[in-house]
Amino acid sequence: MEYGPLKLFSGTSNRPLAEEIARCLRMELGRVRIERFADGEIYVRYEENARGVDAFVVQSLCHPVNENLMELLIMVDALRRASAGRITAVIPYYGYARKDKKDAPREPITGRLVADLLITAGVDRVLTVDLHAGQIEGFFSIPVDHLRAMPLFSDDLRHKGLRNAVVVAADDGAVKRSKQLADRLDLPLAIVFQRRVGKDTKQPVEVVGEVEGRVPILIEDIIDTAGTISGAVDALVQHGAQPEAYVCATHAVFAGPALQRLSRPEIREVIVTNTIPRHPEAPPKVRVLSAAPLLAEAIRRIHGDESVSALFT
Ligand code: R5P
Repeated sequence: MEYGPLKLFSGTSNRPLAEEIARCLRMELGRVRIERFADGEIYVRYEENARGVDAFVVQSLCHPVNENLMELLIMVDALRRASAGRITAVIPYYGYARKDKKDAPREPITGRLVADLLITAGVDRVLTVDLHAGQIEGFFSIPVDHLRAMPLFSDDLRHKGLRNAVVVAADDGAVKRSKQLADRLDLPLAIVFQRRVGKDTKQPVEVVGEVEGRVPILIEDIIDTAGTISGAVDALVQHGAQPEAYVCATHAVFAGPALQRLSRPEIREVIVTNTIPRHPEAPPKVRVLSAAPLLAEAIRRIHGDESVSALFT
């Protein structure tokens, strides 16, 4: 092995997940002090030797995204200056990923900017879960290990033994992911086509596929304001689907009206992962599956120079 011992450090954005990863790896989190100066600037100091180590820093780019991003950059900078052998940014939720192209003139490509910032700070590789678009891997000129939460959802749903269900893509962007879930569960696929009518609101225009009398299962990468999901549920109910939808999403951003939209009775359960900490006001029907064992196994394999892609097969 080319690097020193594995050390796992946590930023402040999702410490419970980092602790769970550490438990899976049967190790302690490394000691690092992260504080704010009176003016809001961030101070970081590692309180143990980092020279030559194979360092993994866990930090989700969730709310407050700009704070969490800056904290990660500073943590990486400190590790690099402490002569860490290799630095892997473990970013369970990669924020700004939805700004991966210019939709209008004079716009930024913020997902790419974040990649550049990470590399400039000294990140050697990235481990992440369900990027909004696979092409975002191409923003990095360093290795990216891109894990998928799909097996967590399909295993969970399979155990429910749902009969007479249909997997529904909540909009055209969700078709690929939904088809994968439908194939894994051996269920039919339907698609709701929606058009955006406001910043956070979509309006269904068409439902393609047989949904009448069936239990809908929707799968998204991100639930932000839940506008997409809520619009799809409206359309499904109007088309005679059972008013007891199951909604899955890897990244539970839950901003603005999300909780209110998800609390509607036609949604029976919302299954998410812990790439983002559970919202303190999330209702009991929001159930969290842990991505920690998957991330821990990937870290173990990266450290041991073993194949990570084998985790998907
Ligand atoms: C968009 O392209 C994503 O895949 C999600 O559909 C979207 O981010 C969800 O946002 P919201 O919950 O605000 O509709």
